[in-house]
Amino acid sequence: MSSENRTSVPNSLNEHWMPFTSNKDFKENPRLITEAKGVYLTNHQGKKQIDASSGLFCNPLGHGREEIINAITNQLKKLDYAQPFQQGFGGSFELATKIAKHTPGNLNRIFYTMCGSSAVETAIKISIAYHRANGQGERFRIVGRERGYHGMHIGGTSVGGMINNVKTFANILMPGVVHMRHTHLPDHKFVSGQPETGAELANDLERICANFGAENVSACIVEPIAGSTGTLVPPKGYLQRLREICDKHGILLIFDEVITGWGRTGSPFASQEFGVTPDIITMAKATTNGIVPMGAVACKEEIYNTVMDASPKGSVELFHGYTYSGIPVAVAAALAVQDIFEKEDLFNRAKNLAPYFQKGLFSLQDLESVDNIRGYGMMGGIDMKLNTKPGKAGFECFKACYEAGINFKATGDCLIIAPQFICEEKHIDEIIDKLRTGITNYQKNQKN
Ligand SMILES: Cc1ncc(COP(=O)(O)O)c(C=O)c1O
Repeated sequence: MSSENRTSVPNSLNEHWMPFTSNKDFKENPRLITEAKGVYLTNHQGKKQIDASSGLFCNPLGHGREEIINAITNQLKKLDYAQPFQQGFGGSFELATKIAKHTPGNLNRIFYTMCGSSAVETAIKISIAYHRANGQGERFRIVGRERGYHGMHIGGTSVGGMINNVKTFANILMPGVVHMRHTHLPDHKFVSGQPETGAELANDLERICANFGAENVSACIVEPIAGSTGTLVPPKGYLQRLREICDKHGILLIFDEVITGWGRTGSPFASQEFGVTPDIITMAKATTNGIVPMGAVACKEEIYNTVMDASPKGSVELFHGYTYSGIPVAVAAALAVQDIFEKEDLFNRAKNLAPYFQKGLFSLQDLESVDNIRGYGMMGGIDMKLNTKPGKAGFECFKACYEAGINFKATGDCLIIAPQFICEEKHIDEIIDKLRTGITNYQKNQKN
């Protein structure tokens, strides 16, 4: 069936095994999105919803951007695919130069991947390759953190710290991974912005070095703000302390900025926002406004140079890459996104809108089923009180909000809110009003 004639509800929902979804529940009561424009979505019942999480944090520029659609269409007409191994096309170089203008310090060498998960795997591998090229092949350990999310490939699953993502796959995880504790302390309840307490939790890295031998540790990977477990904002001084410990022991610091990258905190990267420069940054999602899958890894020049210098000219320096590394259609979307960031000054727009959004978010703390709220920039997490078993409150509340005309992502019992940067104050008001209605309806449903 051509896409023009496709019905909004398919004849069969059976064959598609949906990702991170309660398939049985969904197939009894489907939620299908049929249209998207600006900050709004339309579902298959014809109901309009406000998109309060920018899709999965990936559409900050709004839906249906003509500039991106045109760029993709023109690129496809001219050059639909060019293989990225031992040859290339101009656009990917142009894009790398543009990305490097926004990355902090000298993280100027850009490796393209397909998504956030493959960016994380690439970052881990680059850290190993760098140390090996530097004569330190014994560095194999990667340090992650509890409550971290780094995608669903084996490396990312291993360094991540969300128990449901790990349990089933425990026997195939990557060896050599150690976790620091997460940074969410009981006194961080209803704290907006960076908590004052908890910087000392970074000393877990020092302790790991003492226990396992710092000379065996390749990299430490963290999300500057843990996104998927509900906006865990780093305590003041925490990231700085991680940087110091990494420097002391020659460990590479990787910031996974798949969510925080491209303006979510109000700066291009959270690294700049918090004043800490890592050695490697991963990015994806907003790179193409979420329209075409693409990720990238930005590395310090010395990492690139060390890997280059370790191989003779004419040989492949890094045996790693993907069929879809920096393909024309993704590059075209990303270049159009770069233009829009610049023309609409979107990082500053996000920065200026953030206080209004945060105020609205924290106004929800009087609701009786809300257990905690956290937020920074254009990110926020609302923890719902436990309802008989973990995850139930989050899912039921998500469904009540969906009915109330607001769409977002819930993880476990946390509602994750991340508005688009093109929002006006009236859209933020609508998001907060509809959250209030949805959460209130959820509370009533529980009592009935
Ligand atoms: C911090 C972080 N890293 C990695 C990923 C994985 O990205 P993807 O789903 O594009 O593979 C995500 C996805 O949400 C993420 O939030």
